Amino acid sequence: MSPRPIGAGAAPGKVILFGEHAVVYGRPAVAAAIDVGLGATAEHDPQGPILRIPSWGRDGLTVELRGADQTRDAMGRAFAVALEVTGHPPDCPISVTLDGDLPLGIGLGSSAAFAVALIRALADVEGEALSTDALLAAAERIEKVFHGTPSGIDHTVVAHGGCLRFRRGARQPFVAVRPVRPLPLVIAWTLREGTTRDAVSRLRARHTAQFQHYDRLFDSIAAVAEAGVDAIEAGDFETLGALFDLNHGYLSAAGVCSPRNEEMVHIARTAGALGAKITGAGCGGAIIALAPDAGPVVAALEKAGYDAFATRIRRA
Ligand code: PMV
Repeated sequence: MSPRPIGAGAAPGKVILFGEHAVVYGRPAVAAAIDVGLGATAEHDPQGPILRIPSWGRDGLTVELRGADQTRDAMGRAFAVALEVTGHPPDCPISVTLDGDLPLGIGLGSSAAFAVALIRALADVEGEALSTDALLAAAERIEKVFHGTPSGIDHTVVAHGGCLRFRRGARQPFVAVRPVRPLPLVIAWTLREGTTRDAVSRLRARHTAQFQHYDRLFDSIAAVAEAGVDAIEAGDFETLGALFDLNHGYLSAAGVCSPRNEEMVHIARTAGALGAKITGAGCGGAIIALAPDAGPVVAALEKAGYDAFATRIRRA
């Protein structure tokens, strides 16, 4: 008989609807939680602390902290930070198992969902419900372990849920965006060529070399993001699709769209999507397509060998 859970938590994945990359440079972006995510269950375990994620990697992932060098890998460091921020000693007799269908490392917020679900489960062991501010601060520390200097959009939308307009460094960094009707999205993906950190740092080098051109590009993305908020709140799918296409074009110009991203976007549009773009850091990874008739779009992407599914973005 497996031990009784002593704490549980969950967190959704996310899509960035507008403004990835430009958000790192202080421009507004729009992101939404999706209905695929991760769950975490904590159990008493004298061998702990142990973290298990059976669905990640080829053979699953196990991190044992007892007697281990916690600085060795990012997962170990992230787990140690999660224990610390939730008040558990580094040798506590707890194991945590994470499961769920959220794919790893393709731009759907897996590291933020990992952070938020893990923190929620560990806080639940003490019977504590963390305030949103405390959860955001704790998740940010874990995101920094994985991404260096994240803008904060991922863990903010994952912790908060719903659809948000986010602006890094603003006095009020996020406000709710309220879709007047659910947004019908198709999400498709391929493997990434490198990490978010790589994509962000390569773009940083291009920005440094040609900042006046890249700043104009980021301003254009900001304008599209602001128009996107209006289209979401008006339920204007024709405009929203056109804005997805524009945002994707700007991201292609920024150099973060791989040939496979371009192919997925092209297939989705040809199969009837009203617009399509990469979501997240790009360089492979995921795309989103606005597709009121999702069936043919999913079928066309799958026929070309991509993973794809349909989902809806609703107001929180
Ligand atoms: O890790 P991803 O693929 O969700 O990308 C995060 C979004 C970026 O704007 C590329 C980086 C950031 O920190 O906002």
